[in-house]
Amino acid sequence: MRSKITFAELAAKKAAGEPIVMVTAYDHPSAQIADAAGVDVVLVGDSAAMTVLGYESTVPVTVDEMLMLTSAVRRGLSTALLVADLPFGSYEASDQLAVATAQRFVKTTGCDAVKIERGGTSVDRARAIVAAGIAVVGHVGLTPQTAATLGGYRSQGRTADEALAVCRSALALQEAGCFAVVFEAIPSDVTEAVMPLMRVPVIGIGAGPAADGQVLVFHDLLGIYGGRPARFVKQYADLRSAMIEGVTAYGDDVRTRRYPEPEHGYSMAAEESTRLRALLADL
Ligand code: KIV
Repeated sequence: MRSKITFAELAAKKAAGEPIVMVTAYDHPSAQIADAAGVDVVLVGDSAAMTVLGYESTVPVTVDEMLMLTSAVRRGLSTALLVADLPFGSYEASDQLAVATAQRFVKTTGCDAVKIERGGTSVDRARAIVAAGIAVVGHVGLTPQTAATLGGYRSQGRTADEALAVCRSALALQEAGCFAVVFEAIPSDVTEAVMPLMRVPVIGIGAGPAADGQVLVFHDLLGIYGGRPARFVKQYADLRSAMIEGVTAYGDDVRTRRYPEPEHGYSMAAEESTRLRALLADL
């Protein structure tokens, strides 16, 4: 039996050089699976917009949608630390908005922390949320909420100047009080170069092996999501095919009357059945 993961334990893992395992989850069963697999941190990512809600990008997902998903995940977790993504448009405009949204997430869902994207003004937002007593994860490199301004879903920091900007954002988020920072889709060299300056855990996704931990999207790593996976995805199962196979077999059984079989039905005493037929005949 594991006890609930704490922020101190994540820091201790970094100090001990023990990799931190993070995965996304978006509902009760995926949360239970992540917990049973012993992951350290579960992120209700706004990637939910695409993986479970069918939007084209993370931009349209709403606070209410993320609150519902995060609450379902909370109910499925007993040990992993729960982080919720604040969706696009729910925190950027002011510190007040950021704090109010973060408080709503903590109060409504019971999440342990929130995550926000980008450096720049998000550094102030992170500082304000931390000052309000809520733990924050930063996110730099490819930040999907503002991918349009980054030239689309492509790796970031591939020149020294661009990489320096990514590193500056990460360091600023660390100074603002973030307890961890996600590095997404940046050269492994960039992560390796900045790691000596990072005192808080760095969780990589397409950021190379030097990070303190790794995060992948649940639907990507299990092969549930139908889209083309990003370069950094390693697929550990092909559940989409298994699920299609299962539902197809069910459909075949229904069409050929192989399902349901006697063991899938309920029985009734013979005399009750006889009496029912007599009653129906009198209708
Ligand atoms: O939304 C998400 O799933 C994320 C991870 C990819 C880090 O932000």
